[in-house]
Amino acid sequence: MGRRQLKDYTQWEESHKSLIEEKLNQVLWEFPNNLPFSEALRYAVLSGGKRLRGLLVLAIYCSAQGIEAVDAHSYALRCAAVVELIHTYSLVHDDLPCMDNDILRRGKPTVHVQFGEASAVLVGDALQALAFLVLCGDSEHSRASPVVKLGCLQALLGGAVGMVLGQYLDITNQLYYADPRDQGIQAQLETINRHKTADLFVSSAQMGVLCSDFSDKIDLLQVKQFALNLGQAFQLVDDVLDFTSKDSVLGKSAGKDKLVNKLTLGGYLGDQQGFALADKLITEAIAHLPKMGTTHIHLLVALAYQMIQRQF
Ligand code: IPE
Ligand code: IPE
Ligand code: MG
Ligand code: MG
Ligand code: MG
Repeated sequence: MGRRQLKDYTQWEESHKSLIEEKLNQVLWEFPNNLPFSEALRYAVLSGGKRLRGLLVLAIYCSAQGIEAVDAHSYALRCAAVVELIHTYSLVHDDLPCMDNDILRRGKPTVHVQFGEASAVLVGDALQALAFLVLCGDSEHSRASPVVKLGCLQALLGGAVGMVLGQYLDITNQLYYADPRDQGIQAQLETINRHKTADLFVSSAQMGVLCSDFSDKIDLLQVKQFALNLGQAFQLVDDVLDFTSKDSVLGKSAGKDKLVNKLTLGGYLGDQQGFALADKLITEAIAHLPKMGTTHIHLLVALAYQMIQRQF
């Protein structure tokens, strides 16, 4: 390679690496930055790195497009950020004690050394979901196809503002709410259950709607409320079964929450109040059904009762 080409490439690399850094920064700032693990997310992503995979996206794009440089609004730049998010997730997990057990990455302590192992696992999970959210989440593109909307929905509710957040709160026992003085302990436990379990019930129900040919006739908000109640009831029953059932029925270790002193909503309420609240949640869920704009409601009623009538 001639000297001139090398100099050109060095300049190209420098300017395009900056574009990738800016995009990653933007993506992380646009994302809620008051999550309890926002600092760890930023630490993982914005701690250097050669950005070779992102640069590969951009170089091939320039070459295919027949242009010298990418502009800051290009969708290819989003894709460059996406691959760097996935790559960073792979590194955070790769460094974990159960994998390569490394303490130094990009010249700094690894994420699990800095923030703890559980956080590092969840940071990786969150980055993977965020990558797909960034890929699908561009408003122009999300209008393009229902399939993209489905991807977006799943990435959102399965990621750092949904299930991953719930797992983080659950595992750290760090309760997350706007104003700590506003809510009692029950509401805090409901928040954990909502994110760790009910958010996937919501994405499931909304995906069901979006797959239908009649999705424009259906009230998504009502569907969301129906599924939220279902998910809350499901987790509450799970919490109660932990101390009222046994291994052979559950197929998992009964009494585990108690054993590790994990305060759950079911444990806090006790079995009687717990089952009573679960019943109430299912009644509330069913009340949303006639307002959803769907037919064959008997299926949904039967499914709703499954949440509380199950043995395991
Ligand atoms: C390290 O990749 C992981 C491997 C697949 C060998 P890089 O060397 O590209 O890591 P960063 O992004 O520059 O830190
Ligand atoms: C990492 O390979 C590959 C992935 C993270 C997918 P290595 O384990 O060799 O990477 P380093 O050497 O820790 O960067
Ligand atoms: Mg490895
Ligand atoms: Mg390694
Ligand atoms: Mg290696």
